[in-house]
Amino acid sequence: MTLRYRLTFISVAFMTLGLLILGLTLYSAERAILLNGVRDDLVRATNQIQSQYAEAKKPLERYFSGTSVSLLPVPNEDFEGSPISVAVYYPNGVRLASTPSFMGEGPTLDSTELASALEKNSVISTKPSSYGRTMQVVSPLTFDHTVVGVLVASQSLRTVDRALDTLSLVFLIAGSLTVVLMFLGISQITKRGLRPIDMIANTAEQIVRAEDLSRRIAVANPHDELGRLATITNDLLARMEGLFNTQKRLTADVSHELRTPLAAMRGNLEVLRRGAMRNPELLNESLSDLEREVARLNRLVNDLLFLAQTEAGVQMRSEPVELDTLILEVFRELRPLAEHVKLQIGSEDQATVIGDRDRLKQAMLNLAYNAIQHTPEGGAVTLSLERVGREVALRVQDTGEGIPPDILPNIFQRFYRADKSRVRKGGGAGIGLAIVKWITDAHRGTIEVRSNVGEGSLFTLWLPLAPATDRLITGQLRESPSQPLPIVK
Ligand SMILES: Nc1ncnc2c1ncn2[C@@H]1O[C@H](COP(=O)(O)OP(=O)(O)OP(=O)(O)O)[C@@H](O)[C@H]1O
Ligand SMILES: [Mg+2]
Repeated sequence: MTLRYRLTFISVAFMTLGLLILGLTLYSAERAILLNGVRDDLVRATNQIQSQYAEAKKPLERYFSGTSVSLLPVPNEDFEGSPISVAVYYPNGVRLASTPSFMGEGPTLDSTELASALEKNSVISTKPSSYGRTMQVVSPLTFDHTVVGVLVASQSLRTVDRALDTLSLVFLIAGSLTVVLMFLGISQITKRGLRPIDMIANTAEQIVRAEDLSRRIAVANPHDELGRLATITNDLLARMEGLFNTQKRLTADVSHELRTPLAAMRGNLEVLRRGAMRNPELLNESLSDLEREVARLNRLVNDLLFLAQTEAGVQMRSEPVELDTLILEVFRELRPLAEHVKLQIGSEDQATVIGDRDRLKQAMLNLAYNAIQHTPEGGAVTLSLERVGREVALRVQDTGEGIPPDILPNIFQRFYRADKSRVRKGGGAGIGLAIVKWITDAHRGTIEVRSNVGEGSLFTLWLPLAPATDRLITGQLRESPSQPLPIVK
C-alpha cells in the first residue's frame, strides 16, 4: 500500500473511532435523559395518588369507586411524553380499578412485584408489551399503616424508543457520510502534501536514469518540512555536481598535463635515435630539453601528490615558524634561478607564526617562482616581511607583466593558467597558486593580489602572529594557548 493510502487509512481510522465514541456518548446521554424523564413522571404520579389517597382516609373500594376510571386522579397536564396509565389492585392481586389502557398497553402486576409492594417497597421496571416497551412503578397503598392495595403506574416507552431509534439512524447516516467525506478529503490532502516527495523521487529517478546531475527539484514552499527536504536535496545535488565536475576536470587536466611533457620527451628521444648522438650541439640541446621535461614532470607529480594529500584532509604541523629565516632561505634557494631579474629582500621584520614550516616555505617559493617567471629581463622581484598589528604580511612584488583584471579572480583555481596557448618554457600546470591558497587557508590566513598590466604584481600573504609574539607587542602576560590548525580540504 502506498504511503498516501496508509496515512489516509490511519487518519480516517482515528477519526472514525473519535466519531464513534462521540456518537455513543451522545446516544447514552440522550437515552438516560429520556428514561429518567419517564421514571420521574411515573414516580411523581404515584406519589400524588398515594398522598391523595392517604388524605382521603377511605377504604380502597370506596375511594377508587369500583371500576370507575374517572376517579383515578391522574393529572396528565403536568406530565411529558405518553399518557400515564394507572391500575389499583387488591392485596391478593385482583384488579380493582384502572384507567383505559392504550392499545392494549397498560399496567401489569406479577407476583414478585406484588410481594414487594406488600412489604411496602416500590419496584420500577421496564417490560416488553405488544407495541413496544413500557416502564412501570409498582407501589403500596396504605390505610392506617396497613397495605390495603397496590398501585401500578405505567407509561409507554414507544416515543422514547422511537426518538432513540431516530437518533441512532441519524448518527449512522451522518457518521457514514462523514467517514466517506473524511476519506476523500484526507486522501486529497495527503496526495497534495506528498507531491513534493513524489517530485523528489521522480527527479532522483531521472537523474539516475539520465545520469544528469544538473536537474533540480522545484521548491514550492521552502519553509515547510518538505520544502526544506527539497532544498537540501538540491544543495546535495549541486554539491555532487560540483564534485563530479571537479573530478572530471581534474582527470582531464592531469592526463593532459602528464601527456605534454611525455610527448616532448618522446620527441627528444626520437631526435636522439635519428642521429643527434653524433651532433654534440643537438645532443646537448636534446638532453637539456629532456632534463627540463623530467624536472617539470617531477614538479607536477609532487604538486599532484600535495593536492591529493589536501583532498585526504592531511593534518598540518603546528609549531612556531620564524618567518624572517624562512624568507632568507627562499631568497637563497631562488637566487640561482633568477639570473635575468634582480631578486632582493625589502623590509624584514622579525615575526613568528604557528604553522607548518615546509608548507609555508612552499607557498613562498610558489609565489616567488611565479614572480621570477613572469618578470622580463632587467625587472625586479622583492620579498618582504612586515608586522602589521597582530598579523604579519609576507609580500612578493614583481615588476613583471602583471595580470589582467578579468582573469585575476581565477588564478587561484586549480589548473588555471592565464595564457594557455603559451609555449611554456618550464611553465607549470596552474597548480602553484591553488596550493598557496590552500596553505594560507590552513594557517587561518588570507591572500591578497594587486596587479597592473605592464607594471607588475604584488601578492600579500597575511598570517596571524604566534601568541608569544603577540604578547611581546601588546606587553600582556596573558597565556593564550595556540590551537591546532584546522584540517583543510
Ligand atoms: N607574478 C605573476 N605575474 C603575472 N602572472 C602571474 C603571476 N603569478 C601567477 N600568474 C598567473 O596566474 C596563473 C596561475 O599561476 P599558478 O602558479 O597557479 O600556475 P603556473 O605558474 O602556471 O603553474 P605551476 O605553478 O603549477 O607550475 C599563471 O599561469 C599566470 O598566468
Ligand atoms: Mg606557478
